[in-house]
Amino acid sequence: MFVILDKKVLNEQVTWLTLDAPFIARKVQPGQFVIIRIDEKGERIPLTVADFNAEKGTVSIVFQAVGFTTKKLAAMSVGDSILDCVGPLGCPTNFASPKKAIVIGGGVGCAIAYPQAKALKNMGVETTVITGFRNRDIVILEQEMRNASDSYYVTTDDGSYGEKGFVTDVLKRLIAAEKYDLVIAIGPVPMMKFVAETTRTYGIRTIVSLNPIMIDGTGMCGGCRVIVDGQTKFACVDGPDFDGHKVDFDSLMRRNGLYRNEEDHACRMEGAVNG
Ligand SMILES: Cc1cc2nc3c(=O)[nH]c(=O)nc-3n(C[C@H](O)[C@H](O)[C@H](O)COP(=O)(O)OP(=O)(O)OC[C@H]3O[C@@H](n4cnc5c(N)ncnc54)[C@H](O)[C@@H]3O)c2cc1C
Ligand code: FES
Repeated sequence: MFVILDKKVLNEQVTWLTLDAPFIARKVQPGQFVIIRIDEKGERIPLTVADFNAEKGTVSIVFQAVGFTTKKLAAMSVGDSILDCVGPLGCPTNFASPKKAIVIGGGVGCAIAYPQAKALKNMGVETTVITGFRNRDIVILEQEMRNASDSYYVTTDDGSYGEKGFVTDVLKRLIAAEKYDLVIAIGPVPMMKFVAETTRTYGIRTIVSLNPIMIDGTGMCGGCRVIVDGQTKFACVDGPDFDGHKVDFDSLMRRNGLYRNEEDHACRMEGAVNG
């Protein structure tokens, strides 16, 4: 059992939970994820490790309540326990040795981008963070991202906070003015696709973190297959980080919608059971 030690509600839909998970905390590295199961009947869902403390033995996850399991998780309290938390899974991010990097987080993708920015800053890399949200009410992790960067930009689609526009507007401006040797983009698939298209012409190494449907997380089921450089890869063992210039984003978008009817059904059934 994994006890919830801390809970923060970051916005109406996004929650931060810190779990007591000493074995994972000792091994995990930025870019890796865990698969959790709340109880015996629960489904398994992958969540990135947003923060960790090896000494305290804690692991933090930040998630958006989008469906059955994430809504149930968001309703849990400090002192409650989660049945399973398996990990760390996936490959750690291969930062190589950049001098100047840009880390981009879109919406809840900021939670996944946060450990990357923190790691780069700790490595002494000049780190710029760009975050993007629909509006000011859903801005998350601003102070954490400021602390993890040398320059921080926030955009909102409606201009209610920071700059009006998209993360790619700031990105285009920055890379046209100065030389960067790494961009990491994590967020909605269309955002990652447009970031990769923007950096391609400048030849800047671009890492994206993919989020296909995962079931076992160990390369056995094939559920998480993605096409990278024309080849089939399993995001759980070959990723979740990939070269953004080689990912087939359109096939990923199609596959992620495959179970929409079943997911809606699970939510409706839960609503019926709970009245
Ligand atoms: C490697 C990885 C890391 C992730 N990290 C985070 C994170 O840090 N924070 C966060 O908010 N979300 C993260 N996700 C997405 C998260 O796993 C889904 O939001 C979650 O599984 C939704 O489950 P649900 O039952 O609440 O919703 P459902 O109603 O079941 O699904 C809602 C949507 O979530 C996605 N989804 C559903 N089941 C899965 C599954 N088994 N695997 C992957 N995606 C699924 C689908 O796009 C689906 O349309 C990550 C996904 C992957 C693959
Ligand atoms: S989740 Fe089963 S192969 Fe990746």
